Amino acid sequence: MKMLSKKVTCNTHGQDSSYFLGWQEYEKNPYDEIKNPNGIIQMGLAENQLSFDLIEEWLAQNPDAASMKRNGESIFKELALFQDYHGLPAFKNAMIQFMEEIRGNRVNFDSNKLVLSAGSTSANETLMFCLADPGDAFLLPTPYYPGFDRDLKWRTGAEIVPIQCNSSNGFKITQVALEDAYAQATKLNLRVKGVLITNPSNPLGTTMTHKELNLLLSFIASKNIHLISDEIYSGTVFSSPNFTSIMEVLNERNDLMNDKEVRNRVHIVYSLSKDLGLPGFRVGAIYSNDEMVVSAATKMSSFGLVSSQTQYLLSEMLSDKKFTSKYIFENQKRLKHRQDMIIQGLQNSGISCLESNAGLFCWVDMRHLLSSNTFEAELELWKKFVYQVGLNISPGSSCHCSEPGWFRLCFANMSDRTLDIAINRIKSFVNSTTTSTTTPTKNHYHSSKINNKRKLLTKWVFRLSFNNRETDR
Ligand SMILES: Cc1ncc(COP(=O)(O)O)c(C=O)c1O
Repeated sequence: MKMLSKKVTCNTHGQDSSYFLGWQEYEKNPYDEIKNPNGIIQMGLAENQLSFDLIEEWLAQNPDAASMKRNGESIFKELALFQDYHGLPAFKNAMIQFMEEIRGNRVNFDSNKLVLSAGSTSANETLMFCLADPGDAFLLPTPYYPGFDRDLKWRTGAEIVPIQCNSSNGFKITQVALEDAYAQATKLNLRVKGVLITNPSNPLGTTMTHKELNLLLSFIASKNIHLISDEIYSGTVFSSPNFTSIMEVLNERNDLMNDKEVRNRVHIVYSLSKDLGLPGFRVGAIYSNDEMVVSAATKMSSFGLVSSQTQYLLSEMLSDKKFTSKYIFENQKRLKHRQDMIIQGLQNSGISCLESNAGLFCWVDMRHLLSSNTFEAELELWKKFVYQVGLNISPGSSCHCSEPGWFRLCFANMSDRTLDIAINRIKSFVNSTTTSTTTPTKNHYHSSKINNKRKLLTKWVFRLSFNNRETDR
C-alpha cells in the first residue's frame, strides 16, 4: 500500500457507490431464466441490446467489413500496421455523417474538429484534462451519471460542483440553480472552468429544451467558461420533442455567431456505446471548435485509440446510409415500446416516472415507498430491491440526486420476457409492502453484509471530492 501512488489509493473514483456495488451484487447472483430463475435481474446497466439483429444482419450481408477485406481482397496488413493518432479519415467522415443524421441533418460537422477516443469515458476525461487544472471545478446538473465522479475527477484532479435540480420543475436547469452552483464553487475557493451537461440526460431520459440550452450558452458566455455537452444518448430519442444539439442552438444564436471565443468554448462528447449498443467496441469522440483543444486531445488520444480493425468495420457500416436510417428509426421504435412496457407495468403498481422521451432508462418516483424522507431510507429500499425483490436498480443518491426516493431503472439490456418478470417482481413487492409494514428480508447474510457497506455508501453519496482533497493527496 505504501509504495502505491496517491491517485490509486485515494477514493475519488466513486467506485464505492451503490451504483457499482449493485453491479457487484448482480455478478454474484445473475438472473437466468433456466439456470438461476431466482437470481438478480440487472436493471442498473444502461446497455442497448434491442437492435443487435439489425447489426448482425448487416454483418452477414457485408462479410468483407469484419473479415478485413476490401472488394474481396485482404487489407489485413494495412490495418495491422501502425496507425497515427488522427484515426482513419474514412471512419471520421462516416462518424460525423452519422452524428449529423441523428441531428436531423440540421448541423454540419467538420471531420477536422473530431478527435476519436476509446469511448465517451476517455473523451470526457481528455476534455477535462485539456480544460481544467487540478482543483478547478466543473458544474454538473444533478442527478448525473455516477461514472462522472471517476471519469472527470480521479486522474485529472478536477472537481465537480453540483447544480441542484429538483422534481418541482421536472429537474430542469434554471438560472438560479446555475448561479447558486457558481457561488458555491467560489465560496469553496474553486475556479469554475465550465459546465458539463448530458443531453439527453442520464439518468432522467429527457432532452433539453431550446430554452435550457440557450440559458446555458448565455451563462457560459457571461462567465467566460466552457460548456461540454455529452450527447452519448442523442440517437435514443424516441418521442417528441426531437433531440436538439448544443451546436444547433449555438449556430442559431446571432449574438454569439461571430464570437469565436465562445464558439471555441463549446464542446461535444459522443460515442457509439448507446445509440448502436456497442460499448465493447470502445468508440467515442470529442468535437470541438477550438484548434488547441483538438490538437491536444489528438495527441492524448494515443492513450486510448480505437483499433484500426474496429474503425474499418464501422466506417463501412456507417457509410451505408440505407442501413443507418433503418437502424435509427427501428431502434427508436423498439426503445419506445420498451418504455411503454415499463411505464405501464409500474403504473399498475401505483408507481410513476418522470415524463421522458429518450435514453435506455426511466427515472422512477418511489418516494411513497420510503419509510422516511431520507437517503438512509432510500438505501434501505434499494437494499430490499437488490436482496429481496431481486432487481439491481440505481438509487438516485448514486446519481447525486438532491431528493431521496428516485431510482433509475434500465429497460433495454434484457428481453421483453425478462422485463415482464422484473415488472411482476415489483408488483409483488409493492403488494406485500402495502399489506405488511415489516417485511422480513429473505437473505440475512446479504442484509448484514450490506449494512456494513452502508457507512461507506452514505459517505460517498454526500461526498464532493474537494472535501477529501487533503486526505487524498
Ligand atoms: C452520460 C454518459 N457518458 C459517458 C458514458 C460512458 O460511455 P462509453 O461506454 O462510451 O465510455 C456513459 C455510460 O453509461 C454515460 O451514460
